Amino acid sequence: MLIPIILSGGVGARLWPISRESHPKPFMKLPDGQSLLQKTFARASALEGVREVLTITNREHYFKSRDEYQPAKKTFPGVADTFLLEPFGRNTAAAIALGALKVTADFDGKAIMLVLPADHLIEDQGAFAAAVKQACDLAELGKLVTFGIVPNAPETGFGYIEAEGHTVKRFVEKPSYETAMEYVGSGHYLWNSGMFCFQAGVMLEQFKLHAPSIYEHALACWETTRSKTQGSTPMMEIDSDTFAAIPENSIDYAVMEKSEVVAVVPGDFGWSDIGSWNAISDLTVPDGAGNRIVGEAVLVDVGNSYIQSDGRMVAAIGLDNLLIVDTPDALLVADRGRAQDVKKVVQQLKLMN
Ligand code: GDD
Ligand code: MG
Repeated sequence: MLIPIILSGGVGARLWPISRESHPKPFMKLPDGQSLLQKTFARASALEGVREVLTITNREHYFKSRDEYQPAKKTFPGVADTFLLEPFGRNTAAAIALGALKVTADFDGKAIMLVLPADHLIEDQGAFAAAVKQACDLAELGKLVTFGIVPNAPETGFGYIEAEGHTVKRFVEKPSYETAMEYVGSGHYLWNSGMFCFQAGVMLEQFKLHAPSIYEHALACWETTRSKTQGSTPMMEIDSDTFAAIPENSIDYAVMEKSEVVAVVPGDFGWSDIGSWNAISDLTVPDGAGNRIVGEAVLVDVGNSYIQSDGRMVAAIGLDNLLIVDTPDALLVADRGRAQDVKKVVQQLKLMN
C-alpha cells in the first residue's frame, strides 16, 4: 500500500506578486498552462498501485485544489483525492505527523507514505517511478528514505545529505554559505529533494524518539479531530485549538537531522525546486537578445530580462538583466541578481497591512 501525501501549505514568498497567501505557489500556472499542484497530483496518481492521494493543505484551498485535480482524475479514475485541512500553517512536522496518524488509522502502520511537496518540477516520470520503487523497498526495511540530488551550487535553502551508498551518515538542514561551499566541494553530499518515503508507523516512532512533544500534541489533535468527524469522509478538518498547541517546526529539523534510520536513493529524474523568478524564467526559451517573455511585451534595446504580463501590454526601453512581473493589482520590477530578495518585499508588505 503506497499513499502519496501532497504538502501544499507553504506561501512561496519569493514568487510575489503571483504567489500570495490567497494564491500560493502551488496554484501558480507555469508557462505551459499547468500549475505545480496539478502536475504533482498527476505524477502521484500515475505511480503503480496508488489508490488514494492525500493532500494536506489550508482549508481555504480545498475547493480550488479539487478543481485543479479534475483533469488528472479523468485520466486516473481509480485514484481517490482525500484531504486533511489545516486551519493555519504549523510547518511540515505537524502536517506529516497528522498525516501519519491518519494513514495508520485508515490502513495500518505498515502503509508506506510518499511525501511530495506541491512546488517541485520533475521532468522524467519514468525515472521518478523507478526511484520511488527503490525507496519503497528501503521503507519496508524501516528506513526514512530521502531522494538525493547531485548539487550544482552552494544553495543555502536546501538540506544536505552526507551519503555512502544508500546509507545517510548525516543530514544537515539549511547550512551556512561557508558550510554549503565545503559540502559541495567535498563531493560527498547530496541535496535533500524534500520528498520522503517511509512507513507511517516508523515515522511515528521517530517522532516519539526525537520530537516527543510534537508527537504527543499531534496525537491529541488527531484524536479530537477524529472524534469531531462524522463517519468516513474524503475531507477532514483539523481541530484548531489542539492543532495550535503542536510545536511549530519543519520535519527536517525535528526528525531528519536527528534520526539514525535515514536512507537515500538517487533522485536522478530532472528535479527542480521552483523557488524563485529565476527558476521560472529558466523554464522558458530565450529570444536572440536573451529575453524571455510570457504574455505580451514590446521591447526596445532590452536584454537578458524576464517579462511576464497578464492581460496588459508591457513596454520597456533600454534595460538589461531585469525581472518584470505584471499582474492586475501589483507590479514587480527587480534586478535578476536579487531574485531571492523578493521575499523581503513580502515581509515589508506584511508590516504595512
Ligand atoms: N500542509 C502544509 N502545512 N504544508 C506545508 C506547510 C504547512 O504548514 N509548510 C510548508 N508546507 C509545504 C510547502 O508548501 C512545500 O510544498 C513543502 O511543505 C516544503 O516546505 P518548504 O517551506 O518549501 O520547505 P523548504 O523548501 O524550506 O525546505 C524543504 O525542501 C527543500 C527542497 O526544496 C526541506 O526539506 C529541505 O531539506 C529541502 O532541501
Ligand atoms: Mg520549498
